[in-house]
Amino acid sequence: MLKIVIFASGRGSNLQAILNAINSSNKKVVISGVVSNNKDCGAFEIARNNNISAYLVSDSRQEGFFTYDELSRIFVKENIDLIVLAGFLKKIPDDFVEFYENKIINIHPALLPSFGGKGMYGIKVHQAVLNSSAMVSGATVHFVNKVYDDGLIIAQESVDIANCVSADEIAERVLKIEHKLLPRVIDWFADGKISINKNRVRIAN
Ligand code: GAR
Repeated sequence: MLKIVIFASGRGSNLQAILNAINSSNKKVVISGVVSNNKDCGAFEIARNNNISAYLVSDSRQEGFFTYDELSRIFVKENIDLIVLAGFLKKIPDDFVEFYENKIINIHPALLPSFGGKGMYGIKVHQAVLNSSAMVSGATVHFVNKVYDDGLIIAQESVDIANCVSADEIAERVLKIEHKLLPRVIDWFADGKISINKNRVRIAN
């Protein structure tokens, strides 16, 4: 059983897609918690509806919020195997990333290494893709390191956007891909299929 925690800041459609995939599969993955920086996010509502623990996080000590150190201690106690950033828009502190080296993955709504980096999230990514005149976009799942959107790429899928006229239209096409790609990658982790060889990620058959 792969025990995962999902970090999300907003609506939580990727969290919902992961839950749907777990519920329709042989249950080799369990979501042990949902973490957010935003107490009013849709992801927390999804967590509540599914009896999943919700943790509000902040990098500074604040009433009602967990610190990253406190979360680490909880995750160690609960034997969490993998942390999944699914629309989490805050930078994860370096020492947390170091502690969970190769155990944090992120979904980015474009084909990295293009259209990533600080400030590139949500609709801003799709607007940049539209402005660039690119004919394809897509989604990338990658390991998280200390630099925004820079860790080793685990999986990518592209989509034709040649006839898209707005960033929203691109976002809609990419989101459909995200909802398939992220659960698939989590499944690979559950099956122990992912390994790292030098600077490439290998997926076993
Ligand atoms: C998703 O499109 C995700 O790729 C993006 O935020 C959205 C969250 O949607 N993440 C980033 O832009 C990170 N750089 P959701 O809350 O419905 O899953």
